[in-house]
Amino acid sequence: MEIKAPRGVRDILPDESWKWAYVMNVAAKTMADYGFSEVHLPLFEHTELFSRGVGETTDIVEKEMYTFTDRGDRSITLRPEATAGMTRAALEHGMCAQGSAAKLWCWGPMFRYERPQKGRYRQFYQIDAEFLGTAGPMADVEIIDLSAELFRRLGLRNLEAVINSVGCPKCRPVYREALLKHFEGHKEELCEDCLSRMERNPLRILDCKKPGCGAVADAAPAIYEFLCDECREHYEEVKAGLERLGIPYRQDKRLVRGLDYYTKTAFEILSGDLGAQNAVCGGGRYDNLSESIGGPHLPSVGFACGMDRVVLVMEEQGCSFGRAPHAAVYVAALDASARGAAQKLTHDLRQAGLAAEQDVAGRSFKAQMKAAGASGAEWTCILGPEELEKGVAAVKNMGDGTQENVPLAEVPAYIAGRIK
Ligand code: HAM
Repeated sequence: MEIKAPRGVRDILPDESWKWAYVMNVAAKTMADYGFSEVHLPLFEHTELFSRGVGETTDIVEKEMYTFTDRGDRSITLRPEATAGMTRAALEHGMCAQGSAAKLWCWGPMFRYERPQKGRYRQFYQIDAEFLGTAGPMADVEIIDLSAELFRRLGLRNLEAVINSVGCPKCRPVYREALLKHFEGHKEELCEDCLSRMERNPLRILDCKKPGCGAVADAAPAIYEFLCDECREHYEEVKAGLERLGIPYRQDKRLVRGLDYYTKTAFEILSGDLGAQNAVCGGGRYDNLSESIGGPHLPSVGFACGMDRVVLVMEEQGCSFGRAPHAAVYVAALDASARGAAQKLTHDLRQAGLAAEQDVAGRSFKAQMKAAGASGAEWTCILGPEELEKGVAAVKNMGDGTQENVPLAEVPAYIAGRIK
């Protein structure tokens, strides 16, 4: 039987991969403009990094990780997200030593054993930015601004930024108690999952999408009246900062995010054009992640955007991806005697930095001209016995149909000087 790709993973084929390259280019430029440096992180880490960093009671650690024992008997996990790995790398290389901050970004595949559906895959791609080593609310604002600016440059519309505060280990336990009290009174209305969340992580009930739980969660007390002074001030300053920059947002008391490391700010950017998996980006502050993986106190904030979803939304909204890759020049040989010269001319054009295409299968001249038309080439060079004798190529402008004989050695410069 022919082997197919595993469920939930997909191949990004040429008709889509160039769109990804466009998104990556825009992302790399935006990151650089905001002072973030790119790093490449490993795709697998010690399992402990995620169980301690992301949190034992999260869906990710409980049921979504690709974990295996390697040949050295170590428990290894394919990264389900990048924040824990980025923090590990920053600590390991002393990038935040002596209280200095680091602004880092990375991109690449993440792995989660989730139920596949539109916009949700088991291997998916994130663009991830982390501002490590800064406690103040201006860093949160910079991170949210960076994500909004990325989407603005990509031309995405119909987006909504949603923010919340999830408090800190000082104030969250008090809120947790208030929540538990509320949920205790509505046990019959909660789903199985939420009943088990009551013991382990009642805040996650706020996030449940089921209508019964949703109604109970809507009626639950909001965290705002429980925040400690420090968290409240921080939250107010983040909101004021967003207003100063003119970034519209909606406050959502039910936004708690699915990862345990968050403190204070949590945010998501939602698309109105994605269906159930509508978050194109999620992030927030994680002041205690470093300590949970054995490092010093390292207050930090970051976000990750889902590339698969961004490309999906851009396609649905008809956003521009720039121009698809295409040959600028097609070199056609009139007959077999000109094939060698055609290959040499194609080589010379490419060496001059032009995208050039040729036929290497010995197809008829008619078939080559058809291919030239289909390739989107702006120029075609025709070589036959007559041209070879004169040492020229017939250079045709495919746009206006004009044609000129150009000495072979001058063809690359002739076309390079006229190309749009
Ligand atoms: P997250 O919300 O789990 O956060 O993921 C961020 C984004 O990745 C989501 O908004 C979504 O666009 C995309 N995503 C997540 N799961 C899938 C999937 N199965 N298929 C397709 N796309 C998906 C994090 O991962 C945090 N590390 C973000 C962060 C960075 N927080 C602080 N710094």
